[in-house]
Amino acid sequence: MSEQFSRLVSCADPAMVIVTTAAGNERGGCLVGFHAQSSIEPERYSLWLSKANHTYRLALRASHLAIHFLADDDIDLAAHFGTLTGDDVDKFQGVAFDAGAGGVPVLRQIPNWLVTRKVALLDEGGDHVCISTEPVEAHAGGGYRPLRLSMVDHLQPGHGNEERHDPPTERAAS
Ligand SMILES: Cc1cc2nc3c(=O)[nH]c(=O)nc-3n(C[C@H](O)[C@H](O)[C@H](O)COP(=O)(O)O)c2cc1C
Repeated sequence: MSEQFSRLVSCADPAMVIVTTAAGNERGGCLVGFHAQSSIEPERYSLWLSKANHTYRLALRASHLAIHFLADDDIDLAAHFGTLTGDDVDKFQGVAFDAGAGGVPVLRQIPNWLVTRKVALLDEGGDHVCISTEPVEAHAGGGYRPLRLSMVDHLQPGHGNEERHDPPTERAAS
């Protein structure tokens, strides 16, 4: 079953995005393949963040997330956000961005993006958590050829999906 499942979903070859967020004076962001529009009226966009990631823990405390739609020549930025972790480095050093709603970093290099407000979370016990969002700002910078999973599936993620942070949130540490 799981081999058939993997084959099915990898044939779909999803377009890749970078999700960024901010809480307090902390910023985070990571490469994401699990995301989709999830309602027309009201408009909703959902994404799934790994419980292992710094971005996930920050998103728990954040009000907004930005979703950047990558083109096929954005591989370097995809590698930057998909292989480094905010637990070790500040990924925004040397990366130009503007602050959107809720202080969320909007990457200047990527002309196609949504800024969204976090609406709901669904954690049904898996290694990724669904975050449902409401778009509050959208910028369509023109047509682009998406960067697809098959172009970046050789990258080594900054965190494996089985990793867990201890304590689970920064708030828990205080
Ligand atoms: C091809 C690829 C797809 C990925 N898809 C997701 C995803 O859908 N959701 C997610 O939370 N992380 C995903 N990741 C993992 C994170 O981008 C990666 O672990 C990142 O380094 C985490 O950074 P952070 O700890 O600063 O959040 C993916 C990584 C790669 C290479």
